[in-house]
Amino acid sequence: MESFTKADKRTDYCGTLTAKDIGREVSLTGWCQRQRDLGSLIFIDLRDRTGIVQLAFDDATDRAVFDTAFGIRAEYVLAARGTVRSRGEAAINPNLPTGESEVFVTSLKILASAETPPFAIVEKSDVKAELRLKHRYLDLRRPDLQRNIIARSEIVRIARNYFAGQGFIDIETPCLIKPTPEGARDYLVPSRVHQGKFYALPQSPQLYKQLLMYSGFDRYFQIARCFRDEDLRADRQPEFTQIDEEMSFADEEDIMAVNEGFLKTLFDEFLHQPLEIPFKRMTWKEAMNRFGSDKPDTRFGLELCDVSDLVKDSEFSVFRGAVEAGGSVRGITVPGGASMTRKEIDSLTDYVKTYGAKGLAWYKNTAGAPTSSFAKFLTEDEMKSILGRMQVGEGDLALLVAAKNKVVWDSLGALRCEVARRLGLIDKTKFNFLWVTEFPLLEYSEEDGRFYAMHHPFTMPMEEDLPLLDTDPGAVRARAYDCVLNGTELGGGSIRIHTTEMQTKMFEALGIGPEEAEEKFGFLLEAFRYGVPPHGGLAFGLDRVVCLLLGLEDIRDVIAFPKVQNASELLSKAPAPADPKALEELGIAVVKMEEDE
Ligand code: AMO
Repeated sequence: MESFTKADKRTDYCGTLTAKDIGREVSLTGWCQRQRDLGSLIFIDLRDRTGIVQLAFDDATDRAVFDTAFGIRAEYVLAARGTVRSRGEAAINPNLPTGESEVFVTSLKILASAETPPFAIVEKSDVKAELRLKHRYLDLRRPDLQRNIIARSEIVRIARNYFAGQGFIDIETPCLIKPTPEGARDYLVPSRVHQGKFYALPQSPQLYKQLLMYSGFDRYFQIARCFRDEDLRADRQPEFTQIDEEMSFADEEDIMAVNEGFLKTLFDEFLHQPLEIPFKRMTWKEAMNRFGSDKPDTRFGLELCDVSDLVKDSEFSVFRGAVEAGGSVRGITVPGGASMTRKEIDSLTDYVKTYGAKGLAWYKNTAGAPTSSFAKFLTEDEMKSILGRMQVGEGDLALLVAAKNKVVWDSLGALRCEVARRLGLIDKTKFNFLWVTEFPLLEYSEEDGRFYAMHHPFTMPMEEDLPLLDTDPGAVRARAYDCVLNGTELGGGSIRIHTTEMQTKMFEALGIGPEEAEEKFGFLLEAFRYGVPPHGGLAFGLDRVVCLLLGLEDIRDVIAFPKVQNASELLSKAPAPADPKALEELGIAVVKMEEDE
């Protein structure tokens, strides 16, 4: 191993050398991708974050340099000096941007040797995610992950430029805060100075960005780290990043327009692709009724059809019972779906059961001999009207669910996506952006017997629904909006409450009494007394935006050090037991310790 000196400093990145550089003397640094020993010839592919260049050693190479090259293995860290030369017609590698040239090496240093890594550093690794995450620093050497992380940096740069250009001020908000109610569980941080008291890590900068509006900053922007202790999925991490904004003296139109402008700028500058704005809009009610989802994927049809009124008096108790209980019977029609086998339909039945449906009623309109799981329970007229409304043509398949509305929407909403995936109905080149608006303000939890805020408790109800707050709170619509793309919620926001009267009313609807409101949000209520402007905002999930622009599905692929399903970080093995002395200082005793695996 030799030391790194001034003479070893790089003149060029490996991946940038082209035929134009032929004849130049260059110094390069990087990792050995592979070494090929052909006897009198040795080639080393040298890699850095920009790509790979070929180092060549032959008869004309200094003996000591040749011997050093001979001993080099994958992932050794090298400094090489030499002259760029043409590879010659036969040796050109058209797959490499640097494929026309190579560097004839005159000096070579091993800056660090390396053991054989636990997996090869190659594009599109099929090695198990666990092993890769355990050695994430090696995983991050892979070109695809390097590209993702570098792209993320570029996207953040475009975001900062855009919002700065629109007059937004970048302001940092604290990470040790009082809990913000956003619906997920908080991560708590114990206080040493105030024993028995805890900070929460922010689920979002929500309250602080509102306070900044009260202070008159007018337009706020932040790339903000958020923490939520919730169950993980491919599009969720316990710590993630938001592109967070707030605007004063603005309504929905202003906020949507600024954000459409932002996404358009991203498409222009990052994807070099046009984006049509303004986006389509759809109310929450329409989204649920047509797509069974508040984040509908509109790239394909398979829309839901409500047949409740046609079966409400039928003899079939499964259908009639669902409608009588206040639920519904709805279905989707799969064009050409009659060719599905019973086994395939059974697996779709199992699929909807994971969303709470008890079963899946089906009707195969096979030429001449239709078969069905439920036709025998209905009259001919009833069947005729159902098939007519659902437009079930010859060769089609009808799939129906009867249950509470939420279960019907959840199961059919997911089923239409699953069927579309299985039948290849999704056009992956489409970007179907959509604003979903007029969300319900409140959501009733049967488990807790109370209402919760659907977005958060600072969201303004729609003016015309205000009288319903006392009589039918569940029917009140909110001035909230989500930005949806191809079935994913990219961002969401709302116009906020800015008066004491309205905020107090909202707390009442949520069953938060005056004492609790004072204890939790006293500072907010007090601030309302000193002149608060009308305001609203939005936050995008940055990780999801990066995924969208790169065509990826798993947000772990765009986060340098992500966590796994059970919220642990495999590399450093976080979380870990605390030092007993630290716990003592905090006045904390651990009652039950998780068993080590
Ligand atoms: P919301 O809770 O809808 O709104 O979050 C905004 C966006 O953040 C992203 N997101 C996540 N991304 C990765 N992992 C997670 N666990 C996760 N949770 C949310 C989503 C989501 O659309 N304060 C409000 C915004 C506002 O009202 O201005 C808020 O946080 O892309």
